[in-house]
Amino acid sequence: MSKVFDVAVLVGSLRADSLNRRVALALAGMAPSSLALDLVEIGDLPFYNPDLETEAPPAAWARFRARVARADALLFVTPEYNRSVPAALKNALDVGSRPYGKGVFGGKPGAVVTVSPGAVGGFGANHHLRQSLVFLDVPVMQQPEAYIGGAGDLFAEDGSIAKAGTGEFLGKIIHAYADWVARLAR
Ligand code: FNR
Repeated sequence: MSKVFDVAVLVGSLRADSLNRRVALALAGMAPSSLALDLVEIGDLPFYNPDLETEAPPAAWARFRARVARADALLFVTPEYNRSVPAALKNALDVGSRPYGKGVFGGKPGAVVTVSPGAVGGFGANHHLRQSLVFLDVPVMQQPEAYIGGAGDLFAEDGSIAKAGTGEFLGKIIHAYADWVARLAR
């Protein structure tokens, strides 16, 4: 049996009816059988504070670090907040990057998908996130770039994708990502 790669999916929105969460779930539904996508909770992580980095760090930090550590790969699906990465997602990166030298992200193949009702598709957040991922040593898929704009009317009332072209594009992204993971996962 061929390997199934465990993908930790970090969604940058905490909103219950988040468009990004819906896109992440759509990607999970379209993924080839070589990938198992799992949305990892980030909304319960206390803000990173080195003073809490004791022998007993916050339980949510420990849970998050252990979950990401055992993943083979990373998928980020996020909105843009004020042309950058939402604080909740940046906090998750900070929590997972410490203690120094024991970060959980390094070497895991990643991809960044940004989703916005606006026309620019979260370009600013996409590239700010890539900047952090360079430092965290996450090799990020370069193509196709995934800026999903106009997402306000992406979904039909029954939850299906209403825009066929965007649906096809999401399929392309997740299949390219599966190739990327197969090449680079350790
Ligand atoms: C936004 N939004 C937004 N959109 C965008 O394209 N560029 C931006 O810089 C911002 N900035 C921004 C800041 C804050 C604080 C909020 C709450 C929202 C709008 C955002 O794209 C929209 O609310 C999305 O629906 C958020 O994604 P989810 O929650 O639907 O996944």
